[in-house]
Amino acid sequence: MAHLVAPSLLSANFLNLEKDILMLNQSEADWFHLDIMDGLFVPNISFGFPVIEKIRKATSKVLDVHLMIVDPERYLERFKKAGADIISIHMEACKNPPEALKTIRNLGAKAGIVINPGTPVSVLSEVIGEADMVLLMSVHPGFGGQSFIADTMEKIAALKHMIQSQHLNILVEVDGGIDFQNAPSLVNSGVDILVAGNTIFASSDPVRAIHQLKSIC
Ligand code: DX5
Ligand code: ZN
Repeated sequence: MAHLVAPSLLSANFLNLEKDILMLNQSEADWFHLDIMDGLFVPNISFGFPVIEKIRKATSKVLDVHLMIVDPERYLERFKKAGADIISIHMEACKNPPEALKTIRNLGAKAGIVINPGTPVSVLSEVIGEADMVLLMSVHPGFGGQSFIADTMEKIAALKHMIQSQHLNILVEVDGGIDFQNAPSLVNSGVDILVAGNTIFASSDPVRAIHQLKSIC
């Protein structure tokens, strides 16, 4: 599969979100990456249901919802109802990740499991069979615009090995600090989805930035 690009709306202009959504609709962006933060799991608060519902009405692209919230089980149904197509939960934030992933699938969404930079890939072995996607954080979650943590490359290799040795059909997404310098090696190492916030929205030409990220081969 050719890789996908998922702009993170955390870096969009919330004073004129419609303009950025229309730009993304007309661009080669594949998914909308929506970062939900609760101020507990991460030291920041982003946005919630009313914003997601409005975004859902304004695009037909896939809504990839990244939950940085404690005990995400409490809200899975509401995120699905708000319009999420993919719901990703953090391994570190959840009491029973396999059960939560099953719930997401039963709701009719794709289920993603996320690990922080400090969490080893090996913890995924107990849950990976229940997931449609693994999201590796390449920054400490909570804020856009941070630098890519280089160790992520080894984690990608370990994850790809786990997926291949178990013959699993599962997507690999990487999130945080992705730019034009590191994106080619991510694509070459088999990453399926590149999330990018700052690289797209801080660009003077976001449509072109998305095109550049899509054109990597
Ligand atoms: C960080 C978020 C990321 C972030 C990516 O907690 O999960 O999705 O918005 O932004 P950049 O690409 O600017 O690092
Ligand atoms: Zn994210």
